Amino acid sequence: MDHQRLSMSVGEAMFTQRAIRRFRPDPIPTEDIRLILEAAAKAPNGGNRQIARFLVVTDRALVREFGKLYHEAWWAKRWDERRWTKLEDIPPEDKNYRAAAQLAEEMRDAPCVVLALAVPPGSANSVIPACQNLMLAARALGIGSVPTTLHAKVMDRLYALLGIPKDVSFHFSIPLGYPRGSFGGSRRLPTSETTFLNRWGTASPWA
Ligand SMILES: Cc1cc2nc3c(=O)[nH]c(=O)nc-3n(C[C@H](O)[C@H](O)[C@H](O)COP(=O)(O)O)c2cc1C
Repeated sequence: MDHQRLSMSVGEAMFTQRAIRRFRPDPIPTEDIRLILEAAAKAPNGGNRQIARFLVVTDRALVREFGKLYHEAWWAKRWDERRWTKLEDIPPEDKNYRAAAQLAEEMRDAPCVVLALAVPPGSANSVIPACQNLMLAARALGIGSVPTTLHAKVMDRLYALLGIPKDVSFHFSIPLGYPRGSFGGSRRLPTSETTFLNRWGTASPWA
């Protein structure tokens, strides 16, 4: 596999990765989707048992149907958490939820959605590192992504839509596309607050 095409430095990829939720309609070349999936396959996983499976959805009708389920799931989660039912319920200053609500509208138009799944025993631990590899490889190719989850109420219909066997576990749905907008600029807590040295609560050397 031509991994030389992922020549962006790891630092640049990690430090400019952020949730991309607005996509241009341009399709992603199949060889790029393949390279992204090859990068995902290289991730660490428990006992190298390789239980992760990826379902790449590019068929327009299927992405549209998925988008409807995603929309329903996103609002079902907001109802469970906050009793929100519509955009006006989201405080204008809550930029993250506003952007996420926008994705709920637009998921149906994403050029590609990758479902991250696992065969039994299905544990997330062995899928999540692969998803981060996948998203960093996408970033290196100028392709945006965001990990998203669904809601129990849509799962039966999702599995029926895509022919996913019942014993397969769902972990993430990851839309992929060239961004409308730019990469970069995520905000995180200072590591001096989130990192301890030797004992919980002892400041890191750079605190
Ligand atoms: C476990 C997990 C679940 C997430 N679920 C969603 C989701 O359902 N919808 C969404 O738009 N973003 C989702 N995200 C993306 C997060 O909101 C995003 O990574 C976070 O706000 C940081 O964004 P930033 O990297 O742009 O700063 C999820 C991320 C993770 C790790």
